[in-house]
Amino acid sequence: MPTTHPPAEPAIHVAGLEKSYKEVEVLRGVDFDVARGSIFALLGSNGAGKTTVVNILSTLLAADAGAAAVNGWDVAAHAAEVRASISLTGQFAAVDEVLTGRENLLLVARLRHVEGPGSVADALLERFALAEAGARKVSTYSGGMRRRLDIAMSLIGDPPVIFLDEPTTGLDPEARLEVWQAVRELASNGTTVLLTTQYLDEAEQLADRIAILHHGRILVDGTLAELKQLLPPAQVEYVEKQPTLEDVFLALVGGQTAEEHQGKPVGNAHDQTKELR
Ligand SMILES: Nc1ncnc2c1ncn2[C@@H]1O[C@H](COP(=O)(O)OP(=O)(O)OP(=O)(O)O)[C@@H](O)[C@H]1O
Ligand SMILES: [Mg+2]
Repeated sequence: MPTTHPPAEPAIHVAGLEKSYKEVEVLRGVDFDVARGSIFALLGSNGAGKTTVVNILSTLLAADAGAAAVNGWDVAAHAAEVRASISLTGQFAAVDEVLTGRENLLLVARLRHVEGPGSVADALLERFALAEAGARKVSTYSGGMRRRLDIAMSLIGDPPVIFLDEPTTGLDPEARLEVWQAVRELASNGTTVLLTTQYLDEAEQLADRIAILHHGRILVDGTLAELKQLLPPAQVEYVEKQPTLEDVFLALVGGQTAEEHQGKPVGNAHDQTKELR
């Protein structure tokens, strides 16, 4: 089985994908490619078909027409090879409430026949800031902790391609930033990430390429700069820069802003709090 591919071959290739549920045409010819080691955001409103695309790419659902390949394998003809190449973090957290965080990780590590499951679990708990909570039942975790554990579980076995279906829906701003940081780290280590989101800022912050799925087709697909060029440049206006609600929230609760996460210099939380007075 070939496990390496020429770099020119995309990690994900989708061409003419179609899917209907009875008479409802959800996908009407979807095309896109995702380069290896990149973060690709599939944007769309509720019901646009994002989860349907992810489910087809992860072999949970068969397409009616078109072609899709993941890590070089056709999803219909080589489902087992596709499944060995991916992990899926679904729209709804798939962690076991009754087990502890560490036990959840151990379970997946054993299922995937990973060597040294204990040390793999401990390393992931550390990486996702869950070391202290590792021995607690997941039923006591916050939404953000569950999501981080869910993503940690999907990394076991180092799959080259990861699908994250709405990874930050329902999370508070701090937890979102933590998940974003985890996604960036994945891509910097060479993992290909396809994520779906309804949050425009999430795509803006994270994605190398963004595609908008609407009425069953990809309306646009490009880098943020390319998408911005689709509209005429805005007229220059001089306005006083007001803090965003996110700045206020994070200054008061002591988290980092998206800019700080990206290493851009910004005023510290204390200064921002003072400006509010
Ligand atoms: N098993 C199913 N049977 C019938 N219709 C379905 C089924 N699954 C999805 N649909 C319909 O297909 C459309 C696309 O659903 P899908 O879940 O892919 O959208 P989505 O973009 O992921 O939406 P959301 O943002 O709400 O998660 C919706 O109209 C949905 O009602
Ligand atoms: Mg969905």
